Amino acid sequence: MKRSKIAGIGHYVPERIVTNDELTRVMDTTDEWIQERTGIQERRYGQKHQETTSSMGAAATRIACERAGIEPADIDFIIFATLSPDYYFPGCGVLLQRELGITHKEVGALDVRNQCSGFVYALSIADQFVKTGMYKNVLVVGSEMHSMGLDFSTRGRNVTVIFGDGAGAAIVQPTDAPERGILTTKLHSDGTHAEKLAFINPGSHGGYHFKKMGEEIDFGYPPADTYGEIFLTPKMMQEGMYYPNMEGQFVFKMAVQKFPEVIHEALNEVGLKPSDINMLIPHQANLRISQFVQKILGLRDDQVWNNIQKFGNTTAASVPIALCEAYEAGKVKEGDLVCLAAFGSGFTWASALIRW
Ligand code: UT7
Repeated sequence: MKRSKIAGIGHYVPERIVTNDELTRVMDTTDEWIQERTGIQERRYGQKHQETTSSMGAAATRIACERAGIEPADIDFIIFATLSPDYYFPGCGVLLQRELGITHKEVGALDVRNQCSGFVYALSIADQFVKTGMYKNVLVVGSEMHSMGLDFSTRGRNVTVIFGDGAGAAIVQPTDAPERGILTTKLHSDGTHAEKLAFINPGSHGGYHFKKMGEEIDFGYPPADTYGEIFLTPKMMQEGMYYPNMEGQFVFKMAVQKFPEVIHEALNEVGLKPSDINMLIPHQANLRISQFVQKILGLRDDQVWNNIQKFGNTTAASVPIALCEAYEAGKVKEGDLVCLAAFGSGFTWASALIRW
């Protein structure tokens, strides 16, 4: 079986920079709080009504294609990871296909809903398709336009200050080089705490999961024997129940446990150790989490790429944006061992080891 490799990578971030100070104008927060707790100094917001999750993904894809030496029309499978899709359905994969003018019918498109680990999961899917010889040019995209779906009042400050917009893309192809390419991917999930970091409305749940956990929450649904107002009720609108929520400290504790675990798991499988990693690209959840992981693994500063200071947490886009930046800075070179790792909502977590 052939290995697969990342043949080209690209990223796109919107022009508009939003500083912490700018956020203090709309909510009760401070630059000091945000920097101290998260490391974030600024983030990017897409141009409202001009840019979308899929259009940003397309911008990143054009660069990835150029670097891989292919045209968008050469792509034979699209995997699009996002939690902030343009539409509830259809997914961003087909919208990106249209945006890039990929009109041939052989192409397939798949959307991955794995939040922060979305890109690593998507890369793993691409890896399987390429290794088995099914596809030759798989596009993997992580893209988010969070700014269209955040609560900009003080009520939402613990979530809103963290997130930013952007996109990253990679072209995955087969390689003949025996030592190079994706060495392994490790994927995990545990739905026990699904609601600890979640965006539950609109949805078809009708309060089901909360009732099962012994908690009755009034979402304002009409009686069960009536039709209508199933997804989004007036109560949800009035009380802002349609925003993401996060129990930050709980998520933080899980993250610092799962990141090292899944990295060690991948290294053990291929008989390598943390010190062999040339570049660790952790999902940019919080600078404090990355620093914790770095310390546990005993890595130097030059072995870890962080850019959350500039872009905030871009969820499914954070790993490919960081990987692309590291590549452009000449910090990911042929022969290097690159480790991608992510943890987030679900909870889902994942890692990938790549011999570049
Ligand atoms: O990418 C997906 C995975 N996500 C993560 O891994 C995120 C993990 N969690 C975190 O990064 C951190 O928990 C946060 C950065 C989200 C929050 O930091 P924290 O140190 O855990 O703060 P906290 O939620 O415990 O809140 C501490 C205080 C609270 O006030 P009181 O109750 O102590 O008076 C919050 O109301 O900070 C308050 N607070 C804020 N104050 C100013 C929460 N958000 C803000 C804010 N500005 N933006």
